[in-house]
Amino acid sequence: MTYRDVYQASLSDPESFWMTAAQAIDWVTPPSRALFDRGDDLYEWFADGLVNTCYNAVDRHVEAGRGDQPAIIHDSPITGTKSSLTYSELRDRVASLAGALVAQGVTKGDRVIIYMPMIPEALEAMLACARIGAIHSVVFGGFAANELAVRIDDCKPKAILAASCGLEPGRIVKYKPLLDGAIEFANHKPDVCIILQRDQDQAELIPGRDLDWHAAQEGAAPADCIPVEGNHPVYVLYTSGTTGAPKGVVRPTGGHLVALHWTMKNIYNVDPGDVFWAASDVGWVVGHSYICYAPLIHGNTTVVFEGKPVGTPDAGTFWRVISEHNVRSFFTAPTAIRAVKREDPKGLERQKYDLSGLRALYLAGERADPDTIEWAQEILDVPVYDHWWQTETGYTIAGNPAGLEALPVKIGSPTVAMPGYDVQILDEAGHPQKPGELGAIAIKLPLPPGTLPTLWNAADRFRKSYLSTFPGFYETGDAGMIDEEGYLYIMARTDDVINVAGHRLSTGAMEEVLAAHPDVAECAVVGVSDKLKGQSPLGLVCLTSGVNRPHDEITSECVKLVRERIGPVAAFKNALVVDRLPKTRSGKILRGTVVKIADGETFKMPATIDDPVILDEIRAALQTIGYARE
Ligand code: COA
Ligand code: AMP
Repeated sequence: MTYRDVYQASLSDPESFWMTAAQAIDWVTPPSRALFDRGDDLYEWFADGLVNTCYNAVDRHVEAGRGDQPAIIHDSPITGTKSSLTYSELRDRVASLAGALVAQGVTKGDRVIIYMPMIPEALEAMLACARIGAIHSVVFGGFAANELAVRIDDCKPKAILAASCGLEPGRIVKYKPLLDGAIEFANHKPDVCIILQRDQDQAELIPGRDLDWHAAQEGAAPADCIPVEGNHPVYVLYTSGTTGAPKGVVRPTGGHLVALHWTMKNIYNVDPGDVFWAASDVGWVVGHSYICYAPLIHGNTTVVFEGKPVGTPDAGTFWRVISEHNVRSFFTAPTAIRAVKREDPKGLERQKYDLSGLRALYLAGERADPDTIEWAQEILDVPVYDHWWQTETGYTIAGNPAGLEALPVKIGSPTVAMPGYDVQILDEAGHPQKPGELGAIAIKLPLPPGTLPTLWNAADRFRKSYLSTFPGFYETGDAGMIDEEGYLYIMARTDDVINVAGHRLSTGAMEEVLAAHPDVAECAVVGVSDKLKGQSPLGLVCLTSGVNRPHDEITSECVKLVRERIGPVAAFKNALVVDRLPKTRSGKILRGTVVKIADGETFKMPATIDDPVILDEIRAALQTIGYARE
């Protein structure tokens, strides 16, 4: 079958397409049908099937004879250690951790927050929750206590699973004080925290609330896999929206299993038993789908990498890991490749390793610039596939289905829509655009299985954020176009979400922090171009009248405040005091125009601008800190 046939079949008869795909999953009770139309533009998949995610990701492989195959390889250049866990070992560890949760009263539907670095126990924690039907919510280690507190209050976890620390080059990130701080800030209090003590930092446990991970596991009876309904959430993952309040993306069990399994062969072109590596973090959607769930559901070996593309110890780390563990398909963010390229432009490190097992490099998370793709293609001598997706979808919206039919690569395009995604380009009024014309990228409802059915605790926000602009469509928040051959091009976000080093961040959240500074009357945060990270946040602040402290004192306080409230991952390093912000006559800040000025790009004077002179002031101010070069 060609890609075209498969894609057409998925749109013309989604019911039989997805019921066939569902056969790759072991159901306790198979679903009676695929799609459940709940009315009012809400849909669910496989809702009446009974199934368990952990069983499909772990136990069934042991039963099918893969017990001795490595399930997880942990490679940590930061600690200088490597280890591996077989599927049998993984099952035993997960069953006893799940037992420890059960012993603490955690049951189906309870939420569990996971705050862990890149160690196998992070995956064990996710799988242990899935085993008993508890809904996990992983929080990225680079977020500050305040962000963790916001998530605790939104999903109200009964338990929190955390490690004592994470490791960043040159510093130990002590998680426990952050966790304690977050629980103190939060209104909701978990019943129990189960803490994994790492050698690098022994955390102090609070009697009556905290338990030692291994001690809790040792005393516990292993828990069995509990069947859950296909529409039961396997997890909630918070992602940045346009405001400071993150959106809790809900991932339904049945569709998640079916869709992720489908992608492993058809997109990533691996067979069960092959080693697959996604160099991301379990705190992001890429980590959920392609470090933890998809490779395990498909019977692959997954690599959990605790390190950075450069500096741990050098720009050859990626190539060493690929060569040592015989990685077949490798997935990372363009930023990571740019970091390697910057350090080793000639690819000398790559020459030291035998990469003959590698078949392709997959890039996602942000726009893949042509230079990066071409460089990677040249030094690796394998196809480089850009693919486009979002936390909301959980897997590829547009990609190159290499395992089905490798389509010619057009650099600058993540290729074509994947099955079930009826991607269309719409103008502001919701009319379809012609090939080659720019517009908002929307997906005709229903979205395929595995994508978000709603937002946690926020059904109205779900509708408002995604379904209201274009009735009958899901609004992706990205703008772009489709060419005559159906290739998609992703140009920019249409909202205030920015992408820094492949990390999705909200400028609105940063503005809320800056606005809380006592000397700041008004502010705007924009994402300006950054050679390494794609975008980086820049804050413009107007001071409260009468404030006459040195500007650099105020801007350093702003930088510190964002780091304290949102976390180091915000990478907020630049703030600038300006007299006024450019606005429309109705008072809307012209952030897009500021970005164009900062990046030194030409722009059209907005017709609704209140006072064009402000743009010259902004340009002059930006030039003082190295932006707005003409
Ligand atoms: N826990 C705590 N802090 C973290 C963290 C974590 N898990 N991850 C990042 N941070 C910190 C970093 O230490 C850095 O702190 P600093 O300001 O004290 O230096 C800050 O957050 C910003 O991190 P980052 O934007 O990643 O920049 P960096 O300079 O540390 O590293 C790269 C640059 C290119 C090496 C890095 O961004 C990278 O590996 N990018 C790939 C991105 C990726 O895989 N994204 C996943 C989406 S698919
Ligand atoms: P996240 O939810 O963190 O995965 O971020 C999703 C957003 O990242 C998308 O809406 C895009 O703006 C951007 N993005 C992800 N992948 C790509 C890609 N391949 N090309 C361009 N932008 C991308």
